[in-house]
Parts: sequence; structure tokens; C-alpha cells
Amino acid sequence: MARSTRDLGKIVAYQIYIKSFCDSDGDGIGDLPGITSKLDYLASLGIDYVWITPFFPSPQRDNGYDVSDYCAVDPVYGTMDDFDELVREARARGLGIMLDMVLCHTSVEHAWFQRALAGDERYQRFYILRDGRGSAGPGDPGEPPSNWQCAFGGSAWQWEPRLGKWYLHMHDVSQPDLDWTNPEVRDALVDVVRSWRDRGVAGFRFDVVNLISKPEVFEDAPGGNGRRVVADGPHVHEYLQELVERAGIGDMLTVGEMASTTLEDCVRYTAPASRELNMVFNFHHLKVDYRGGNKWELMDPDIARLREVFQTWGEGMQAGGGWNALFWNNHDQPRAISRFGGRGGAGYEGSSWEKVGKMLGICTHLMQGTPYIYQGEEIGMTNPGYASIEEYRDVESKNYYRIMLDEGKSPAEALRIVGERSRDDGRTPMQWSADEHAGFTTGEPWIGVAPNYERVNVAAEEDAPGSMLEFYRELVRLRKELSVVSEGSVRFYDAGAGARRVIAYERELSGEAADAARAAGEPVRAVVLCSFDAEPCEAVLRGSDGAAVELAGLERVLGNYHDAPAAGAAGSVELRPFEAVVFVQR
Ligand code: NOJ
Repeated sequence: MARSTRDLGKIVAYQIYIKSFCDSDGDGIGDLPGITSKLDYLASLGIDYVWITPFFPSPQRDNGYDVSDYCAVDPVYGTMDDFDELVREARARGLGIMLDMVLCHTSVEHAWFQRALAGDERYQRFYILRDGRGSAGPGDPGEPPSNWQCAFGGSAWQWEPRLGKWYLHMHDVSQPDLDWTNPEVRDALVDVVRSWRDRGVAGFRFDVVNLISKPEVFEDAPGGNGRRVVADGPHVHEYLQELVERAGIGDMLTVGEMASTTLEDCVRYTAPASRELNMVFNFHHLKVDYRGGNKWELMDPDIARLREVFQTWGEGMQAGGGWNALFWNNHDQPRAISRFGGRGGAGYEGSSWEKVGKMLGICTHLMQGTPYIYQGEEIGMTNPGYASIEEYRDVESKNYYRIMLDEGKSPAEALRIVGERSRDDGRTPMQWSADEHAGFTTGEPWIGVAPNYERVNVAAEEDAPGSMLEFYRELVRLRKELSVVSEGSVRFYDAGAGARRVIAYERELSGEAADAARAAGEPVRAVVLCSFDAEPCEAVLRGSDGAAVELAGLERVLGNYHDAPAAGAAGSVELRPFEAVVFVQR
């Protein structure tokens, strides 16, 4: 039975980037026993599911998203016994483990690709191989079959002399895309997912899963953006239904990572009647600071656009019966606290650090959907601000640094851009304590710790009233305790001309749910205001019908200042810098 949105609304998930979470054996790389050792901490957050990024054998060109064996554990992360122990111990604490399935592509080191290279035609049919344009015949590459660029820079096609063909790789050259039109590929992937289900995992995150169905013909795309052409392809819904049904995971928690996706498709991916996935990650809200849509061109976040995206996706998914995963951070994103906090929020020194972190927490955790907390977000971890390109590890960051230099940017400018946009910004070691290397490892960490670890760390924030960590616990508690947060409908407000950097919305219960809440003395309505403004401003709330939103008589249940903001007549509220507040009506 697919889950009801009522269940999904009560859930909070936590994402672990295994490489940087906790190292148990001193090799500088996080591992499975490291996660097991932190299960009490995870349980103390009140979360329900833990999504762990890939720990399968991999040459690590893309930090594990280049899988060479789907059904084993990379020795650097531990053993299968360690995994079984983690599942067992997590379960004992009421936590479900979610695995990250990278089924769109393999590593070139996967046995399937190796067999293909060795001439086995059966495995050559596992991948997307094409002749070059203008090729004079066998052995002549000609030009790539289309102008598509891969996600990390450069052509999405690679000529492989051993195959006498070009292979498609939407990501790194070491990540050839699988051909899902081949039923044998789909069978093999069903077996993979089923084998992990049988090992006791509770859910799955599917990596770039809306890129699995390629168009029938490979034509040039505007600007070389093949991803747009491939996204939400012709058979994607059918493939997902088949995978979910045949792997027997319809009753487990599932989330799809959707690149360049549409609202219509996401409704379809997640509406229970489709029997595809429970929820989706889309990234439209995390592109509001890309100048001209280009990640590598800096721009201050456009909050009006952010509000528009949240409204479209919040109200649109609700109207279609779909379900959103709610998040600011993950291992592919710079830290939101650095990104949306202006210069003041970028480092711990900034006076707005705490206000921004808590405001961002309120903004997503009070929305309709299932929130995901990314490791370190709950303590306010920031971008590290590395001083040299040598400190970065990520393939995308290194490629784009070189591309920016080739385009004529100075090394200082390219480094500044990488500093704000690198995926490594979110991959620095988890800050457990003020000890050396933030208590992450007794060895040399694979990537440098952010310099603010002496102040921003779990030990410092544990049991500290008013800390970010305590605030996150409160956010999780609120979702569990108040059905208006887990089940209420969502409606966005206009905050008025004097509050262009404010996002405001309402959650509301109706019908039997409202009656039950009233009978239990619980709120039936919540009003949430979040200011992304470093200056004070006056919000005047209006609903979509233009009517003023009456705030008189509402009770403040949470905020990032000690007291409630001054509320005047006819929906007006004076918000302090980066203020966020939740009002309820019983
Ligand atoms: C999305 C993952 O989150 C990212 O880290 C990875 O590089 C790509 N998919 C390719 O697997």
C-alpha cells in the first residue's frame, strides 16, 4: 500500500554524506561503523529515516556516484557485516536506513562495462553506444553524435576505440549511462534493489532518476543542454512503476532526485495512484542565485523568484496530489546559511549566522512536504572558504575552475566563484567537537575541516539553550506534535511592497482533521513569516484574493528572536533582520 500524505507529513529524514560523517578507523574517511557510533545522536534529533550516500565499491571519481558493484560494500567504508549491524542498531532506535541507488549510470569499472569493452555484445547493449557524426566508417570517430554537454563540463559523449563507438555519459566521462530500453538492464537493476530491500533497508533515494529514459533520437539541444532534453523522458513513468512493483518496494519510503524536472511530471511521479515514488527533490529553488541560469556566474539570491518557486511547487503539488521533499542543503550544494545569509551569514563571525540558520529552518520545516536535514545543517555549518584550489576535491569544481581560467577569468576570480559554488562546500567533515579535525577523524581528513569548527560543533551546541541544534530539535518536534504542520494545506501570501525579501505562507486544517485538532486543543491554522532581509522591514500580509490577513489574536509558537515581532492592524508585521516567526490559531 502506498503511504498517505498524512504519514509522509509526519516524517523527517536526515542525510548522511558517508565520506565526511564520522571516521571510525583513522583513515580520514567516514565509514559505516562511524555512522553506527552516532545513532544515539541521530535518534536524539527526533528524525525517522537516515539516507546514506553511496558506499558501494567505486573508483571514487565522483565520490561513490560512480558505482562499480551495486551489491557490495567498498572496503574503505567497512564490510557487509558492518552494514547489517547498522541496520539492526538503527532499527532498535526506531530509525530506518535509506540507500542511495545510482541506477542511471555505472562506473567504467563496473563488470558490465568491462565486459562490453572486452567485446561482449550482450553487455554492449547495456550502454548507449552510437556512431559519430560524419564518420567515414568503422574506426573513424567523426564528431560526437550530438552537442550535449555533460554535467561536469565538456562533451557528454566519449569515443571509445575498443567499442568503435561513442558512449553517452550525462555526468563524468567515467560514468557511462545505462540503456533502460534494454529489458535485461531493467531486470538486473530490479535484482539490485530487491537484494537491498531483503537486507532490511527501509527506503531508497534514486539518483538523477528522471534521466533514465533517453529520447529516441539524439539531436542537438539548445546551448548543448542535453539534460533538458533527457529529463522526464518518454518512458520514465513506466520504468519507475515497473521498478517499484517488481522490486517490491511500494510500501517503503522512496524519493527521486529529479534534474531539470517539471511540476506536471513531479505530480505524476508522486501522486499515490501512479504507484511510482513517495516524493521528489527538485532544484528550482536552488537556482535563484545563478546569473542567467549559469551556476558559475555569481548573483545575489533573487528572493522574489524564490518565493514564486516555493508557491508554484507548494501549491501546485498540493493541487495535483503530489508530494515534495523539503530541503536547502545536500552534498551537491553550497551551505544555504552561507548562500542566503548575505556576507554577514557567510561565516560564524557574521552576527546574522544564528538568525539566518534558524530562519531557513523555519522556512522549509513548516512547509507542506517531508523535510530532509543534511548533516551539519542542524548545527549551522557553513562553506569552508578554502584559500586555494588545491584544497578542493570535487571533479566538477576542478573542471569548472579550469574552464573559467580558459575563458579568461583570473585565478582569484575563479577561486572566489568556486568558493561560493563548489559541491565541496557541503562536503567538509561533520563538526562533532572542538578537538582536532572537529572530532571527525584521528587521522588526516580526506578534505579540510571548515575553520569555524572550534565554535560551530555538536558538543558546543548540545544541551545549550537557544543553540541551532536545540532549535532544529524543536522544529522536528513541532512537525510531530502539530497536525497543522504535518497535514495542513498550504497557501502562500503576498507580503507587500515593503517586504520584497519576505516569504510568508499559511498552513490550515479543515474538515475532520480540524475538528480533531480543536478537540485536542491543537492549532488549526499556522502563519509563517520568513525575512531574507538583512534590514528591518514591514510586511503587510494579503491572501491571493487581496484581503488582509488578520494576525490579531494569533499566538507565537516559535521564532528566531526571543519575543514576537510587533504586529499591527490589517496584516502588518514589523520584521527584524532575518526574522522568522510561526504564529498559530487554536
Ligand atoms: C546526483 C548526485 O547527488 C551527485 O553527487 C552525483 O554527482 C550525480 N547525481 C551523478 O550521479
